[in-house]
Amino acid sequence: MIKRIGLLTSGGDCQALNATMRGVVKGLTNSVDELEVYGFDDGYKGLIYGKYQMLTAKDFSGILTQGGTILGTSRQPFKLMRVPDENGLDKVEAMKRTYYKLCLDCLVILGGNGTQKTANLLREEGLNIIHLPKTIDNDIWGTDMTFGFQSAVNIATNAIDCIHTTAASHGRVFIVEVMGHKVGSLTLHAGIAGGADIILIPEIPYDIKKVAEAINRRARAGKRFTILAVAEGAISKEDAKLPKKKYKEKLEARAKKYPSVSYEIADQISAETGAEVRITVPGHTQRGGEPCAYDRVLSTRIGAGAAEAILDGEYGVMIGIVEGKIKRVPLAECAGKLKTVDPKDQTVLAAKRIGISFGD
Ligand code: F6P
Repeated sequence: MIKRIGLLTSGGDCQALNATMRGVVKGLTNSVDELEVYGFDDGYKGLIYGKYQMLTAKDFSGILTQGGTILGTSRQPFKLMRVPDENGLDKVEAMKRTYYKLCLDCLVILGGNGTQKTANLLREEGLNIIHLPKTIDNDIWGTDMTFGFQSAVNIATNAIDCIHTTAASHGRVFIVEVMGHKVGSLTLHAGIAGGADIILIPEIPYDIKKVAEAINRRARAGKRFTILAVAEGAISKEDAKLPKKKYKEKLEARAKKYPSVSYEIADQISAETGAEVRITVPGHTQRGGEPCAYDRVLSTRIGAGAAEAILDGEYGVMIGIVEGKIKRVPLAECAGKLKTVDPKDQTVLAAKRIGISFGD
């Protein structure tokens, strides 16, 4: 049996992209007579403009621990996929042309929510698609876990750990701003793991007075410092009530004054409590470096799961993990849905039980 597969990584990178592709290719190498692998450069860009490399099993050896992506990636917004490029090229038709020209049996697409929407569009256009859920945000509906998430949790946790020692020396308030886009999963987990005193996530809008109260309470109890884990998408109760358009305007106005939400919160905390506040933004370090052991196992399982789906000829699915088991989730069911933190989730309730404030 000969199999011709295309591989691409799209959107923001994360740890374990290489480990996952390795899982797919090794999983197939052991079961087919001949395998042709076309690796597209820089995500959908490579598929649109026919830029690819032919890869062999050897290219996937020794990359289990390597961060980033050997294929390169780029952001190609889903909403622009139906918009012709600057030369009038129909991107969707161009992607289909590349696929058919190379006589691919299927296209394996590693990416987050936006990438998944385009993967689903290509499925609707008749291509054989398998989507593999990558993102440090863990915000993909239909899978309990995305690869990249646990590695990022470790890095963000380490940032909070490091802040702990300096915070204790100086007796200040510290904010560690954590990535996650519109979802608070990464902040919630890193915040708990790093022993943050206050965790602010988009799903639980904060009241700055409650945040100040939590800081003052700690000071009265003789604690010399307070550490806040703040999601980059954290939102105040007031702002959460604004209509979408008004909130967008608010964010535009804020961007003129502050680099991110943490800086606004820091000013408000100083005004409310008189405390000296410092901000740390680990930023893209959270997506960098090698995948942690958990992600290496998860990505190997997801990669092998994709190989099995290809051998079964089952396409149009995301390979997720649900209650510990690899699951083929129809793209028609999951594409376009965001997985957010449930404010009543046991993890949130446990954090509240031990006295972590969410500023609500
Ligand atoms: O989706 C992953 C992510 O790292 C988010 O957490 C973050 O908001 C965004 O990507 C940053 O994107 P970029 O790398 O394009 O700045």
